[in-house]
Amino acid sequence: MNSMKLFVLLITLIALEPTRVIGYGPIESDVFDNTTGTPDTRFRREIGEDYTGITLLQASDFIFKTFKQTHGGGKSYTSIDATVTSFKISGLGGYPFQVAITTGNLILLNADYVQVYFGDVKAEFTGILYHESTRVWQWTANGAAPIGLVTGIADYIRLTSGWPSKNWVPRGSGSRWDEGYAVTAYFLEYCNGLRDGFIADLNAMMRYYYSDAFFVQLLGKSVYDLWDDYKLQYGGNPPVPAVALAPAPAPAPASKC
Ligand SMILES: *[C@@H]1O[C@H](CO)[C@@H](O)[C@H](O)[C@H]1NC(C)=O
Repeated sequence: MNSMKLFVLLITLIALEPTRVIGYGPIESDVFDNTTGTPDTRFRREIGEDYTGITLLQASDFIFKTFKQTHGGGKSYTSIDATVTSFKISGLGGYPFQVAITTGNLILLNADYVQVYFGDVKAEFTGILYHESTRVWQWTANGAAPIGLVTGIADYIRLTSGWPSKNWVPRGSGSRWDEGYAVTAYFLEYCNGLRDGFIADLNAMMRYYYSDAFFVQLLGKSVYDLWDDYKLQYGGNPPVPAVALAPAPAPAPASKC
């Protein structure tokens, strides 16, 4: 790769049917729309490969800024790739409400979920791309970190980038700090509010090893005391007053990624 690319801020777009490679700094994006000839027409009509590729790069950029890392974030990947496919036809699990499966730097996105989603699917899909992009770049202590913290950090990125899901529970919900997804994301938002840069430091510390003691090191309190402090703002723990809970959407597609 030409090192000048590091300084090029323009998004260049090279159309290569059926795959598009988009260069944006040293990270590339390769998106494949595998929905041709399937009943899942909505991805192609309302979102598209180009938008997906550009959003993956913008999400990666946002993640590196949040984590205070250079492009690549210490991982060896030079691209972030996605395949949009019918999980049903491809025989992948979780049809139709599993949203995505991310392995390494490849994100499999469920076109069936896009097809049946009620509402602004482009906004929902954008949030999903921010969540899954985080799963590509974040540290997980080689898988030893609590999965609820890992998904919570991914939804923290989704939240702070301005792409939360309309199906999320309200702030202050949940019974455990590491329940995952939006519950943990809102808690991490509180933690980062106590000291800006907390989330970047936490991610960096999670590279090889994980301990709950990281919260004490970073914020001077145990994660359990922090969770209690956070919950006190919403009437304490347990439980959240029922009036604070939004009615569950029906059906409630869990954003399991
Ligand atoms: C692409 O779609 C076909 C069916 O249309 C499916 O058999 C195949 O597994 C899909 N590929 C991927 C990578 O999901």
